[in-house]
Amino acid sequence: MKKVGLITGASSGIGKQLAIIHASRGNNVVLTARRLPELETLAEEIRTKYQVEAYVMAIDLTERDAPTKIFAFTEKEGLFVEYLFNNAGFGGHGKFVDRQLEADKSMIDLNVGALTDLMHLYLPNMVKNKFGKVLNVASTAGFIAGPLQATYFATKAFVVSLTKATSFELRHTGVTVTALCPGPVKTEFDVVAGMGGSDMFANGADAYSTALFGYKAMMKGKRTVISDLSLRFLLRIIAPFLPERIMLGIIEKKQAI
Ligand SMILES: NC(=O)c1ccc[n+]([C@@H]2O[C@H](COP(=O)([O-])OP(=O)(O)OC[C@H]3O[C@@H](n4cnc5c(N)ncnc54)[C@H](OP(=O)(O)O)[C@@H]3O)[C@@H](O)[C@H]2O)c1
Repeated sequence: MKKVGLITGASSGIGKQLAIIHASRGNNVVLTARRLPELETLAEEIRTKYQVEAYVMAIDLTERDAPTKIFAFTEKEGLFVEYLFNNAGFGGHGKFVDRQLEADKSMIDLNVGALTDLMHLYLPNMVKNKFGKVLNVASTAGFIAGPLQATYFATKAFVVSLTKATSFELRHTGVTVTALCPGPVKTEFDVVAGMGGSDMFANGADAYSTALFGYKAMMKGKRTVISDLSLRFLLRIIAPFLPERIMLGIIEKKQAI
């Protein structure tokens, strides 16, 4: 079987950079997202530049059977997914009571459902093979509750928790699971989340350095890493000593647009 890295959300932002970084190190890649033209352009660039195989599968991961369709595709092509980049995700701004149920359900289906399904589908073969690496793109939002992005922060708390537990369960198997927790990053994320033009994202990190930080952590088999230095300090050193009410107020102010 041909070894590959499977990247979800490879059509833009952090996922696109993860695909480029992984391919640039001589690895075959499977690129998935909804937008086919963006995936095909990236696949062509990767094939030409890095002389590796680049497979494309355009699919909406909020659809219930999308992860099993991806799994069936890699099986049919004879591909062994030894690196899984669970990156696709989106946020949504606004008070919980004002948000549409369907929008939040889709967010949970993608950020939580598809990510969990893909781990279920690919981890057993990694364990059997005694090698595999999963990078779950979580967020600093995964460590705190987030007024004005309540559901998004909750989805990322799930990702952080799932990553920590599974990485520990798998510690003697040769398979590692890592959560990359970025702060604000300049991608399409803010516009999709309804926060376009906010200073927080305009001053955010760039997608390449964020992806590289996560990639290196995954290769070292780290459990959770925070790519933003000042947020790392705030969350690991300051936040544990702040009363919850104060912390929630800080987050709400940060999310206000
Ligand atoms: N940017 C930030 O500030 C930030 C901070 C912390 C964490 N993150 C996390 O980083 C990850 C990547 O986000 P990004 O910042 O790179 O944002 P982005 O530029 O908007 O990229 C999101 C990717 O997910 C894909 N995607 C969205 N909905 C999808 C669906 N229904 N089915 C399949 N693919 C879908 C998008 O492709 P299509 O539109 O083509 O489907 C795109 O490739 C997300 O999990 C996000 O929560 C981002």
